[in-house]
Amino acid sequence: MNNGHVELARAQQERWEAAYARRPQLHGVEPSAAVEWAAGAFGAAGIDDVLELGAGHGRDALFLARQGFSVHATDFSEAALDQLRHEAQREGLDDRVTAALHDVRDPLPPADATVNAVFANLLLNMAFSPSELRSLVAEIHRVLCPGGLFVYAVWSTADSCSQYWRQMEDGLAMHDGFVGRFFDESLVTELAEDWRLDETTPYDEGQRRMWRVTMTKPVQES
Ligand SMILES: C[S@@+](CC[C@H](N)C(=O)[O-])C[C@H]1O[C@@H](n2cnc3c(N)ncnc32)[C@H](O)[C@@H]1O
Repeated sequence: MNNGHVELARAQQERWEAAYARRPQLHGVEPSAAVEWAAGAFGAAGIDDVLELGAGHGRDALFLARQGFSVHATDFSEAALDQLRHEAQREGLDDRVTAALHDVRDPLPPADATVNAVFANLLLNMAFSPSELRSLVAEIHRVLCPGGLFVYAVWSTADSCSQYWRQMEDGLAMHDGFVGRFFDESLVTELAEDWRLDETTPYDEGQRRMWRVTMTKPVQES
């Protein structure tokens, strides 16, 4: 990471921490559209445990746990994770949900090929440089078992809100102090190198135009 990216990363972490502290349940309590799809895809593949990255205060982790999945949720905001843990305990789901502080610019903690499914709603479109983004997707590939699934959702360049964001370097954009990236289909395709790309689906959620992407880590032919 160059110094500019280190500073940006630190500022974004502080921004998210302050946003969650100021407004508990920032993203609401309803599950995202992407997690409802992911629960079906993971269930159909016989998967019952999920690693969630950028989980925030856990609306999707809690949804997955209510559906019977075991979820390990990570985020770089301790305030958000505290809310997640509190809510999991309140709902009696704490035996199925664990939460740990982790910045996804660092290597993912799991060993190679030990995770069955990874889910990330609105994480890949955060303030990552192109090389950080590629490294993160490579890390997810590394920890997944062959045949494991990765479902993610990101903002689309077709989102009309994107016009209100100020363009920065590296394809990033800023609005109200938050930095992010709008994805076009070619970026989705580029990140799917080394994967089987199962689906790339445009959809609307609230006022946002999004992409939902499902990828499988291929099983190596011997
Ligand atoms: C738009 S929110 C989405 C939260 C949650 N997935 C949801 O849909 O409710 C993005 C989340 O990514 C987290 N995040 C951003 N950059 C991160 C990083 N480098 N490492 C870990 N989490 C990060 C933020 O703290 C925030 O919780």
